[in-house]
This record gives sequence, C-alpha cells and structure tokens, in this order.
Amino acid sequence: MDIFRTKTVEQSIRDTEAPEHQLRKRLSAVDLTVFGIGVIVGTGIFVLTGQVAKELSGPAVAISFVIAGVVCGLAALCYAEFASTIPVAGSAYTFSFATLGEFPAWVIGWDLLLELALAAAVVSVGWSGYFASMLNSIGIPLPAAIAGEDPVVNVPAILIVAILTTILVAGIKLSSRVNLILVITKLAVVLLVIVAGLFFVRAANYTPFIPEAVPTARVEGLNAPLIQLLFGITPVAFGWIGVFSAAAIVFFAFIGFDIVATAAEETIEPQRDVPRGILGSLAICTFLYVAVSLVVVGMQRYTQLSTAAPLSDAFTSVGHPWLATIISVGAIAGLTTVVLVLLLGQTRVLFAMSRDGLMPRKLAKVHPHFGTPARLTIVIGVVTMALAGFVSFGELAELVNIGTLFAFVVVSAGVVVLRRTRPDLPRAFRTPLVPLLPILSVLACLYLMLNLPVETWLRFVIWMVIGVVFYFGYGYRHSRSVAPLPKATR
Ligand code: ALA
Repeated sequence: MDIFRTKTVEQSIRDTEAPEHQLRKRLSAVDLTVFGIGVIVGTGIFVLTGQVAKELSGPAVAISFVIAGVVCGLAALCYAEFASTIPVAGSAYTFSFATLGEFPAWVIGWDLLLELALAAAVVSVGWSGYFASMLNSIGIPLPAAIAGEDPVVNVPAILIVAILTTILVAGIKLSSRVNLILVITKLAVVLLVIVAGLFFVRAANYTPFIPEAVPTARVEGLNAPLIQLLFGITPVAFGWIGVFSAAAIVFFAFIGFDIVATAAEETIEPQRDVPRGILGSLAICTFLYVAVSLVVVGMQRYTQLSTAAPLSDAFTSVGHPWLATIISVGAIAGLTTVVLVLLLGQTRVLFAMSRDGLMPRKLAKVHPHFGTPARLTIVIGVVTMALAGFVSFGELAELVNIGTLFAFVVVSAGVVVLRRTRPDLPRAFRTPLVPLLPILSVLACLYLMLNLPVETWLRFVIWMVIGVVFYFGYGYRHSRSVAPLPKATR
C-alpha cells in the first residue's frame, strides 16, 4: 500500500491541459492582488479587532496584527515559490501531492475544505449581521427569526451565498469584475476610518498600551490556549501572553493570501504574477490593519469597544453616526468579496481533488459554455448555504485559523522537500534563505497554533480523523494514481 506516492509536477501541469478539465486563463497580477485584498480584508478587521482588543490584548492589538502579519509573510514567501513552480489549481493540496505524497495531500485537501467552507459560512453570517443592522438603521427591521443575533434560519446569509454562487458559475472573469468594484468600496471605507479617525484619537486611550495580565472568563477551561494548559500556566488575558493569544485570533484577518495561489491555473503568466499577487496583497493588508487598529483603540477606550461592529461604533461613540452608516455599507461590500473569494478557493481545491480521483471525478467537469467547474460550485454553494443558514458559529473562526496554520506548516516544509527532490525544476520565484526561512515559518505557525484554545484543537482533530477514514474508505481506492493512467496523460 503506497499512500506516499507522489504526483510529479509535470503530471500535475499536464492534467490541466486535458480539454474537459481545462480552466480558462484570464487573470493578471492586478486581478490577483485585487482577489487577494478581496478575501483578506473582512471579518478580521471589521469585527475581530474590537473583540480581541477588549478581551485579550488592549490597545496592543496593533502588535498582535504585526505578529500575525510576520508569520503570514514567512508562509507567503513559501507559497510564492510553490505557486511559481506548480501553477495548478488546488494550492497547498497540489503542492503537497508533488512533494510529500498522496496521503499528506489528502490530509491538506481535507483541511482546506474545513477552512474554506467554515470561513465562507462564518463571514456570510457576519455579512448578514451588518446587513440587518443597516436595514434597521434605515427603518426596515428584519424579524428576529430570519436575521440578527440568533435567528432560526439566517435568510440574508443564505441569499448572499446563493447570489455569489451564481456569479461564480457564470465565469471567473465576471467574478473578478464584481470583486473589483466591491474591493474599491471596501478600501475607500478602510481609508476613511484611518483618516477621519485620526482626528478623534486621544493619547490617553493608549495607556496602558499592554494592560496588565489578569485571569478572565474568556480563557477559562477548554477556552484556555493549549500552550497555557501544556505548561501549566494560569490562564490569563492581557499582558504579553494576551498579545500572543490575540495574534493567533487576528490571524483570521490575514487568511486569503494563500487562496490567491488557488487561482494560479487561471492566470495568464502564473510564474511571474502569482508571487506578485500573494506578496502584494499581504503587504497592503498588513499596513492597513496596523493603521486601522491603532486608530480605533485611540478613538475609544479598549474596554468600551464594541465586539459586533467596532469600526462603525467607534464613530458613533465620538458623535458621528452618519460616518458609522457609511462604514457599515463598506463592511457589507467588504464581507461580500470575502465570501466570494472563499467560495472560489473552495471550488478550486475540490476541483483539484476530484480531478485526481480522491473525490468523485464527475465533480471536476468544466461547464462547456461557462468554462467553470459549475457542478462542483453548485454543490459547494448549497453546503455553505446550509451551514450559514442553520448553524450558529460562535468561536469557529478559531477553527478556521488552526486549519489554515496547519496548511502553512505543510507548505513551508514542502518547499524544503521539493528543493531536495526536484532541484532541477524552473523556479520563477525562489524563497530566500532556504531552509532557514521555511523552518522559521513552520515554528512560527506551530507557535500560533499552540495559542489557540484547547476546544479548537479537539474539534480540529475530530475533523481530521473523519477525513482519514474517508480517505481509506474512498479516496485511496479511487485515486488515479492507483488505476494506471493512459499513456497520453501520464
Ligand atoms: N481574512 C478574512 C477575513 O478577515 C477571512 O474575513
């Protein structure tokens, strides 16, 4: 039984050329950067900033953003090398198949399905919250049963996923145009927060910058970060420990640059443009996050920040509710693009897995007219609608984080492996300082993972066990690497 069989890079690239599985190549570096920003700037900055500043880090949330940004930067350099070497849909899944083997690739693919499906659902629920509150502010309240904090069925969340699924089925170029308009709106609003907010910053709000560590309900029991449990540290919030725990949570705000790599196959010049798209979008977002978080904690005392809509509520608190309304509209636009690109990434990972036979191959058929994997996109849309409409997520952003960090660990290790096993491959982008930088990336990601709650680890392990069972029950036997491939496609 060879569960570590690898799929050669050449074979991965050849697979993309089979006519019935071919995606259209239409995207440029700018399209990719816009896609990147589209998915990166979302719930993390619009919602989590307030929550972690209030409960874990205080005004030092800006430092948490820097820590998370540096960890992502290390991983991004590794993703860039991979994407420039293997420009094939599927991101970390495809990279692992080429380096570590089929089983590790399955584990990552399964892990990405968790990350992307949950993230899309979580963000569409957040979208619904902002949407309901905006309707409310113009005098059209929605019934509590269909929207708001704890609805029976979250109708706006279902509707937004349905609309975005339709756009994705209709074609990738259309998706990137819609995305562009929404991203511009979102960036304008983020810049508005920074520039307008500066006028209301009060120096007193920055002291203490890192509040003293205190035991709080936020970090008791299964909610305590694993690292505190492992080392028998009394769970505390704030202090430097709080700043690092906060970094593991605001990490959510950076998720998305890795998804740029999933669109490699649809890029006109992937070797040059995918690294540009990944690193460019990450750099822009890190700058914006640090600026926004510094302004928001300067406008309002961290203990007073809102946990649902901190950016707009900060403006209400300084007596400018009209600015708050504009910011809510921007948040709605912003969250729309996040859901759109998360869904896109999700379809491309599942597409790659199905094309390899690890998931039913029928799913990987490309629609003859639209040139997109329509069937699979609809399946994913329906699953996400069900999750978004009926499940209450609470802390599940943390589950998304652990899944993503795990993928980063594998991709970083994979760069070192591929340098050893295939030194001959042309690499348009080379990660600097190999193996030092990838090793640092692995350690940094593991460290952030340890800062996540015990409960999150448990849920993650359960999901992965289900995946392993599925692999041995289905994927292993249906994999195309088992059945000999016809000569032409080998
Ligand atoms: N980075 C994305 C967000 O913050 C997932 O919503």
